[in-house]
Amino acid sequence: MLSSQIDENVQELVLRLLVSTHASDEDTGIHMFRVGALAGMLALVSGCTNEFATSCFWAAPLHDVGKIGIPDAVLKKPGALNDNERRIMQSHALIGARILGGSGHHALHLASQAAAAHHERFDGTGYPLALSGEAIPLIGRIVAIADCYDALRMDRVYRKAWPTSAAVAFISENAGTHFDPVLARFFIERVKLAEAMIAEINQFPESQELSFKNACMLGAFAYSSLQRCMNESEAIELEPQALSS
Ligand SMILES: [Fe+2]
Ligand SMILES: [Fe+2]
Repeated sequence: MLSSQIDENVQELVLRLLVSTHASDEDTGIHMFRVGALAGMLALVSGCTNEFATSCFWAAPLHDVGKIGIPDAVLKKPGALNDNERRIMQSHALIGARILGGSGHHALHLASQAAAAHHERFDGTGYPLALSGEAIPLIGRIVAIADCYDALRMDRVYRKAWPTSAAVAFISENAGTHFDPVLARFFIERVKLAEAMIAEINQFPESQELSFKNACMLGAFAYSSLQRCMNESEAIELEPQALSS
């Protein structure tokens, strides 16, 4: 078992769903777990509990699980999508919510919210429901930042990774429009921690095929990075008491 706060069966289910998503999507397993770790970190530095951060770690990587239901002709089309194709592509949010929705397990419930809400925008111009502000579930607002930042910081076939300063500037410029401005500020304030986690998770050897075994090892590797972050924030919390004693 990777993290004691989450049911072992749920962890296995998440990992298997990730393996199946990976087969149809260009996003790598490492990107998915970096997004999980960054989402957990952002939850922590925003004042959420370790339990909630752990659920975010498991829920966030599943945000694009609905891409399983998008035909390859649209999902893998090189170049721009027409209006109809864009509408089909955007349906991955609600397909994901349908796959994961209705679960009594907290992490899976959170994952269904992440799938449904990760393309909503703080100013109400996102999809699928054009929700705005805090009407967007917290996990959706967290994943929007974690996924975007990590995507900017990684090499794509068509471009090199953006430098840290440019990725931070992007998050900052889009705070209040695309992103929750309070979460964006927390993220930017702790971007060194985010970068340390990204560098750490990138040590994991990337393989072309994400097998279940590989996903287990990757999940454990990424989770240990979040755990160090949890220990650090506990140490920070303990400091004032240590000073007053
Ligand atoms: Fe998406
Ligand atoms: Fe992504």
